[in-house]
Amino acid sequence: MAKRIISTELMEEDRRLENTLRPQMLEDYIGQVKIKENLRIYIEAAKQRKEPLDHVLFFGPPGLGKTTLAGIIANEMGVGIKITSGPVIEKPGEMAAILNNLQEGDVLFVDEIHRLNHQVEELLYPAMEDFVIDIVIGKGATAKSIRLDLPKFTLIGATTRAGMLTPPLRDRFGVVNRLDFYTVAELKQIILRSAKVIGVEIDEEGADELARRSRGTPRLANRLLKRVRDFAQVKYDGIITKEVAASALDQLDVDRLGLDHIDREILITMIEKFGGRPVGIEAIAATIGEDVGTIEEVYEPYLVQNGLILRTARGRVASELAYMHMGIQKFME
Ligand code: ADE
Repeated sequence: MAKRIISTELMEEDRRLENTLRPQMLEDYIGQVKIKENLRIYIEAAKQRKEPLDHVLFFGPPGLGKTTLAGIIANEMGVGIKITSGPVIEKPGEMAAILNNLQEGDVLFVDEIHRLNHQVEELLYPAMEDFVIDIVIGKGATAKSIRLDLPKFTLIGATTRAGMLTPPLRDRFGVVNRLDFYTVAELKQIILRSAKVIGVEIDEEGADELARRSRGTPRLANRLLKRVRDFAQVKYDGIITKEVAASALDQLDVDRLGLDHIDREILITMIEKFGGRPVGIEAIAATIGEDVGTIEEVYEPYLVQNGLILRTARGRVASELAYMHMGIQKFME
């Protein structure tokens, strides 16, 4: 299966980099202005009342800062954080143990929360609502259900697909936030901050070029910054200028709009294989040998947001802009 060179998934090395670059407090966090303003108020109010923050759900494409915001919330509240993910927790007993081991007021961060299995999810309902869980002891006719009090906690769920959450789970989050792609100006600020942290010299235009080609995604911006630093160091004098950034990114197969070869393959497939007619996501996925979910969650949102793909009632179509960007002439029927 085709894999993007600059993946939005996390490799071990990236995880370390990402952790060193993560802002720790709200005032250091760039972008998602509205979400930040609202969180500041909810956090302040909860602290004044000496209560844990209400449960929070973050959704949106990967790499936009869901985990970072969860960490910041814990820091701002002055509580601990336990991080896990939906597919990791296989049995209700495992979730019960995690909940029971939390300290009063702690944050439990569950990444990919849409992938929790049904039994584990059901355990969460009373836990989220009343901070209790019901545990069944014994089997058959002698089985007894006992109720266990939990420390009060804040569940922070993250998902790339809010639509995949069951309504009863979604309804138990008091705060629901959709993260958007970052503007070029915001990404530029993030890149300048990250460059300072990792100790690489970059000028304004260099940061701007990188920002334009980072797909609105801080995780990608930071990853590209590191790769471009390597080019700057080996092929130039170590300083990332516009020219250095542009030539390194060309070399990395990241184009002017930040599209990689899979994004371009999607557009070319829509334009050439399907002749620009409306097409379903399954057909695109089958043609390029990618997973439907990956296209929907990782690739398509940015292409739609930037007007390269139009979603119509009859299916997806490549826009005029997509034809122009790919340098393909559109013939009128
Ligand atoms: N690093 C990654 N995301 C960031 C953000 N939103 N603000 C500051 N630094 C970041």
